[in-house]
Formats: sequence, structure tokens, C-alpha cells
Amino acid sequence: MFYNDCCGHFQNFQSCYMIRLRILLLFCAAFFFFNSCIKLKKDKEFVIGFSQCVESDKWRQFMLEGMKRELAFHDNLKFIYKQADNSSKKQIEQVNELLNDGIDLLIISPNEAQPLTPIVEEVFNKGIPVIVIDRKVSSTLYTAYVGADNYEVGKLAGEYAVSLLNKKGLITEVLGLAGSSPAIERHQGFADAISKYPDIKIALKINGDWLKTKAFNEANEKIDDLKNTNLVFAQNDMMALATKEAIDKNGITSPIKIIGIDASPGKDAGIDFVSQKKITASVLYPTGGEEAIRIALKILNKEIYEKQNILNTLIVDSSNVRLMKLQTDKIISQQNDIERQQTEYNEQKRVYNNQKAFSNILFAALLLVIILAITALYSWKKNKKVTEKLLLQNLEISSQKNKLIEMSVVAESAHQAKLNFFTNISHEFKTPLTLILTPVDDLLETPNIKPNTRETLHLIQRNVLRLYKLVTQLMDFRKIEVNKMLLKASENDLVAFTKEIVNTYEVLARKQHISLQFFTTEKKIAVWFDPNMIDKVIFNLISNAFKFTKENGYIYVKVSSSNNYAEIAVEDNGVGMSPDAIVHAFEPFFQGEYENYKGTGLGLALSKEFMELHHGTIHVTSEKWKGTKFEIRFPLGSEHFNSYELEPEAAPTKAIEEDAKMYTTELLTTFENVDETKNSKEKKYCILIIEDNEDLRSYLKLKLGNEFDILETGNGNKAIELAFENMPDLILSDIVLPGKNGIELTQIFKSDIRTAHIPVILLTARSSDLQKIEGLKSQADAYLTKPFNITELKQTINNLIANRDKVKGHYSSETFSEEKSQATKKTDRKFISEFSLIVETHLSNEKLGVEDICKEMSISRIQLYRKVKKILNCSVNDYIVNTRLQKAKYFLQYEDFSISEIAYKTGFSSAAYFSTVFKTKFGVTPSAFKENKT
Ligand code: FRU
Repeated sequence: MFYNDCCGHFQNFQSCYMIRLRILLLFCAAFFFFNSCIKLKKDKEFVIGFSQCVESDKWRQFMLEGMKRELAFHDNLKFIYKQADNSSKKQIEQVNELLNDGIDLLIISPNEAQPLTPIVEEVFNKGIPVIVIDRKVSSTLYTAYVGADNYEVGKLAGEYAVSLLNKKGLITEVLGLAGSSPAIERHQGFADAISKYPDIKIALKINGDWLKTKAFNEANEKIDDLKNTNLVFAQNDMMALATKEAIDKNGITSPIKIIGIDASPGKDAGIDFVSQKKITASVLYPTGGEEAIRIALKILNKEIYEKQNILNTLIVDSSNVRLMKLQTDKIISQQNDIERQQTEYNEQKRVYNNQKAFSNILFAALLLVIILAITALYSWKKNKKVTEKLLLQNLEISSQKNKLIEMSVVAESAHQAKLNFFTNISHEFKTPLTLILTPVDDLLETPNIKPNTRETLHLIQRNVLRLYKLVTQLMDFRKIEVNKMLLKASENDLVAFTKEIVNTYEVLARKQHISLQFFTTEKKIAVWFDPNMIDKVIFNLISNAFKFTKENGYIYVKVSSSNNYAEIAVEDNGVGMSPDAIVHAFEPFFQGEYENYKGTGLGLALSKEFMELHHGTIHVTSEKWKGTKFEIRFPLGSEHFNSYELEPEAAPTKAIEEDAKMYTTELLTTFENVDETKNSKEKKYCILIIEDNEDLRSYLKLKLGNEFDILETGNGNKAIELAFENMPDLILSDIVLPGKNGIELTQIFKSDIRTAHIPVILLTARSSDLQKIEGLKSQADAYLTKPFNITELKQTINNLIANRDKVKGHYSSETFSEEKSQATKKTDRKFISEFSLIVETHLSNEKLGVEDICKEMSISRIQLYRKVKKILNCSVNDYIVNTRLQKAKYFLQYEDFSISEIAYKTGFSSAAYFSTVFKTKFGVTPSAFKENKT
């Protein structure tokens, strides 16, 4: 109890702890999940793809740097960059690759307008925003444009050229890639600006395709024409520088002004060229890198943005180049600062992230510690309580234990007193039993005794002997229990002793057709034993063998000896024992497994005790349905006995003679002399007797057989078969039975329409009121307790049968009642019972006919006709009508129904028809009959 409780509490504690730990882990997981969710929400990632047409020049690099600068402020933007080396084809392929990469937005600076238009439209149509930067496409299907107005840029350059040339002069124009929009627009702007001045003309065109080398080569080739012009307008600074270098290389000294476009900051770029006077001026053409990223972010965040984002422009020449340079240098140095800070910021951010993660872990750990501390505190408190409770329980248990000890002392002394009383009363039984037995023996000696009386006397004798044996066994057992069984061993011949016992079974063996044989190879075996005990052992073993051996079986008793011991073996080929029964065979009160052979359960237990008192052994080997062998062994000599256990001069004992009767008589089958001729006569009624005590069953058969046909069985299950097979007129049953018991049987019979009408009498030793009520509840018609008075039983049987007939008479046709009495054959009775029951059950059915009855009885029409005719001497239909009328008559006499109700209940289609038929049969109308109740 204590241990279990402890365990229970420990398990509770453990499970509580586990639950809390789980909650804690869940909490931590939730904490981290929540944390990461916040981060996710704040930093939703976008992928921006940037398709650049070329990257070899400073301007493009400056554009990319601008973008990266802006990107550095936005962690959530992933940037994929591809450049196409001036090839439109390559650029189309790269845009497709970017699409496959799953970009959220595309920034494109198209190499040429026309070839790149379809892919830009495709991306836009897919719902992916497109920002066109610097160069344009030939469609408006894009999201936003970023860049300066190239027409304006060209125009500004043209106006500046006009002022430089003083409205007169020849111009060389160095053009960008023909299909690119800036080349077209810049030219257009420039041409428009100079068109108002007829003295200014574009005398030479050089195709530079935006590239320095290309421009240099072509300028070099066309140097003769070039040297005659007064001004070079190159569409970008790199081509302007290339033209300057071609002029210088060819040693041309004439003052040729050079205007470029871009004015990019930093070394070897536009502003630097102007400042070093390598070129005269440059028109600022901002890259728009930062702006493109800013607009992209707005688009992705679904904020308001401008579709056209035009950047400002201006002329950079000697007048402002210093300032511009200062500014751009400053910007560049700031840019470097920003980049350095950016790097530092990134490092700080990394450190911060690490610290944040660390602090998260720290926080979780702290939380864990707090919760564990709370848990520990809680558990400690709970444990304290449990311990206190257990201490209290322990105290209570020990006080209960003390009480129990006291009670067991009282109980033990009460038990002893009970046993003493039991022993004394058993002893007291012996005298009256002897006083019954002796006169019965005397009576049996009387000549000319009636056979029935003789059988009754035998019955008394057998049962008194059985009782006597039982009392003796109980007393022996008790003596052994209290060590008061004194052994008085004398030296005897085991062979002669055993043979004498075997001989007493000879008559029985003959009667039961059992081959009983005695075997020994020795003439005499001297063994020290107490004949009063050992005879009981041998009797018990042989009697057992008889009980479990069937007709034509054998029982062998063998006596043998070796150097140290003598042995008796009793072997049979009877029903045998199961392994379980073998294990318990020698336990007191063990009832065995065969319902029909229930004994006291003391015989083998006593045998074992007796053998142990003799320092001997008893052993059993058995196999179910094959047979059993008991072996008892005695040590030879007398050294193993105490001197007070020996009785060398013992007087010859009458033990065998006395016990033989006790053991053999009970095995004799009963009532062999009952007059069979009397029973063979057909009786009017048939009774089914269900009783497992063979003697009592035979006695009942003897007493009732004269008046009734008797069906009998000792088994409840068999009884069901017999009842349904034979439809007896009454059932007389014991309650305690092998198979189904009497109460269960009664319930079965009473709940089945075929047997419900059969009266049942329960006959039993269970006499308490409660048991009686239980029996009657099962709808038994009567309940008689043992010992019963046979006259009372007969009267009860007669009453019940008469009552049943009376009730049946009310319902059934008169013809049937008369004829039934003649139907004495069992099969006929069964047929009539079944037939009449069907008719009565379906009486209210006006359509009830031969077909229905044949179906229910599973017989043919012809069979039904013939049988009814033969037994009842009427037709089936006559029988049905008569039964209807008899029942109607009964209703009219005893019930308070109206004529129509009775007509309906007895299956007449109308009250008028019923009256007509009734009058025809009884000569009086139903209402007149009811009035007179004749
Ligand atoms: C660079 C560049 C710039 C020019 C722009 C026109 O590749 O040639 O110098 O302004 O492209 O698209």
C-alpha cells in the first residue's frame, strides 16, 4: 500500500514535471518563432534583377555604384546583376535567365530599342514591374522610366556649339549605336538646335557605337575630313576623348572644339577631361542608378511613384568645371566615406545580430531557469504534502495492522471453537447413523420383502453409509490438522491385506462389467503400517478407479517390492485427469473436473496425509481419456517410526470388514429391481425428472413411475434436448445441476412458446426464502425443498397437471380434449401439443388455414390431414372452428368482452357470422349464452 502510494505520487510528480517541461519548451519555441516572424515581416525580401547593356565604361560603372549605394540601405533587397557586352541578343537571353531566377522587378538599360522591346513587354505582361533606365524601348509597356531627356541633352549641346562657333562653322558628329534611343534623340536635339544657323553644318559623321576604340579608329581613318571641321560633337565623353586623341595623334594643331556628353565624375571621366582641357565641354547626363533603386522600392512596396522620371542636365565647361570637380570629388570622397561607414555598419550589424541571438538565448535560458525554479518549488511543496500524507497513512496502516492482529487472534480462537464444535457434532452423528444403519441391515435380512421396499431400504443403507464415511473422513482430517492422529503401526503382509480389499469389489466389478485384477509376484511382503489408515487409502484408490472407469474397462491392482520399499499400484483405463486436475488432486476439498462424480474432495487428501504419517509417498500419473495410475510406497522396516508409533503385538483388526461396506456399497447402481413391466405400460402423462443425484433420481422414478411416463437425466443441457424432443406434461428439476442449472432451465422453458405451458416444479436443498423467491421468479410453478414428502410431491404434480388441463380445456375444443386423452403415444402427444399451440396462438387470424400450420410444423398437407384425422378424428378446419368456438365460449363465460370483441379475438370475420356459427354449434346465440352463462 505504502509502496504503491509512493509510486503513484512519484509518477504523478514525474508526469506533472514532464508536462511543465513540455509547456516550457513550447513556450520557448513560440518565443523564437514569434521573434523570427517579426523579423520576417519587417524584412520581407524582394529580388531585383538588373540587365545592363554594357559595363566597360566609367559611366556605366558609376551607374552600378549608384545602385549599390542605394541598395546598401535596404537589407531586404536581393540584387542580381547581368551585363550583355553591347549585345542585344545576349541581353535578351540574360533577361530570360533573370525571369527564371524568380525576380520581383526588372531594371533594364536596353542595348538597342527595337530588339529588346518584345522581352520587356513579355516581362511586363507577366505582372513583373519593369524600370527602363537610360536607353529606351519602342513601347510604353513598362512600369517606369529613369533618365535624362536625351533630346534636351542633344539640344543643349547644339546650343552650346552654336555659341562656341559664333554661329558659323563645320561640325563632326560622333554617333552612338545606331539603334539605341540616346543616339537618335541626342542627334535630333543637336540637329534641331543648329538648324536655325545656316552657316553651321554637320560636315562629318563618325560611327562610334558608344565605344572609345571604335570612335578612335574611325576618327583616325577620317582624319583628313576631321581636320577641316571646327567642332566635334561626340554623343558621349569617351568617344569625345577618342576623337581628341586621333586629332593629337595626327599632329593636327588647328583649334577644334570638342563637346562630349555624360560629365561623369572621377578620374578618366568627363569632368576630369574638361578640367584637363582634353575636351571643351561635356553635357551632364546623370546615370539615375540611385533613383532607379528608390523607384523600384516604391513599386515593390506598392507606394505612389512617377512613371517618367526625367533627370536634370547642364553644361560643364571651363566656367564651372572647377566647382563641378570639387563637388564631384567631394561627392566621391563622401561616397568613399559612405562605403567605409557602410562596411562598418555591416560589421556592427553582424555584431548586433550575434548579440541579439545571444541575448535571445540568454532570455530563454533565464525564462527556463525561472520556470524550473517555480516547478522545483511547487514540486517541493507537493512532495512535502505527500510525505506528510504518507506519514499519516503509515500511522493509520500500522494502527489498522494492530487491529487486524487483534482481530485475527479473536478469529483464530473463534475458528478453533468452530472446528471443535464441528468435530464434536461430527462425532455425535456417528451414533444416530449407526442406529439407522443397524435396523436397516436387519430389515434387509427379512425374507419376502417387497422389491420396492427392498430398494428403498438399500437406498437408506447406501446413503447412511455415505454419510458415515463423510463424517469419518472429516474427523480424520481434523485429527491430522491438529496433530492428534496417532499412528499405530504393526507388521502386516501387504499382499494379503491388499488382496482382501480387492476381493470386496468383486461383486461390483462383475455387475459393472469391469475387469478387476490383482497382480503380484510375491507371496508375502512384510510392511509396518497402521491397517486402520492404509485400508482407507487402498479403498479410496480402488473406489476412485471404479467411479471413473466405464463398462468393459479394467482396474489392475499390483503389489510389488524392492530392496527399500513396497509398492501398491492401482491402475485403470477410465476417463483420466487433465494436467491441472493432477496438480490439485491431493488438495483437500478439491472437487475434480467431472460434474457427475462430485465427492467430498477429502479422500485423496487424507490418503496423502496417511501416507506421509507412514513416511511413504503417494503419486499419480494420468492422461485424459486414457486412464490413471496411483502408486503408494512404504519404506521397509520400522526404523523410520517413533517407538510410540509401533505396536508389535497388535490384535487382528476388523478395519477392512468395516470399511468395505462403506466404500463399496455407495458404488452399487440403484433400483435394479424396479418392475419394468409396470413402467412399460403407456401412461397418460409424461414427467421429465432432472436430478444429478443418481439415487434420488432413481427413487423419484421408482415412486412416480407407476403413474407417469418418466424421462430422466442428470444434466441440465441434456434436459433441454429431452424436453423439446418429448414435450413432457410436467418437469421436475433440481436447482444445482451440471450444465444449465434448474433456474436457467425454467427460464428457458417458460420463455419458449413450445414449452411455456409445461408446469415446472423445482426440487432443491436450497431452502432459504430468498432462494425460493429466486426459483419462483423464474416462473416455476412450484418449489419444494429437500427433504420432501413424496405424497406432497405427487399431490403437487397431480394438481399442476389437472390445472393445466382445466385451463387448456377452456381454450381448446371439446373434441380435442376427449381425443387427446386417447393420444397416448409420445409422438402423438408431441404432435398434438405443437398443432394445438399453433392454432391457439393464431386464433385471432381469420385467415388461419392448413397452409400456415403446415409451414410452421414443417410437414406436408397430406401428413397434417392424416394425422389430425387419425388422432383427433376430425378435419383440420373443423378443429380450427371448434377451437374458435371453445375460446369464444370461454370469453363469454369468464371475460367481460363485447360480442364483436370476442368475434374479433377468435378470428370470425364479423359478429353476425360469429353468432350464426355459434348458434349452429350450441343451439343458442352468443348473447343468450352470455346472459345465461350456460
Ligand atoms: C555608356 C554610354 C554613355 C551614354 C549612354 C547612352 O555606355 O555610352 O556614355 O551617355 O551610354 O546610352
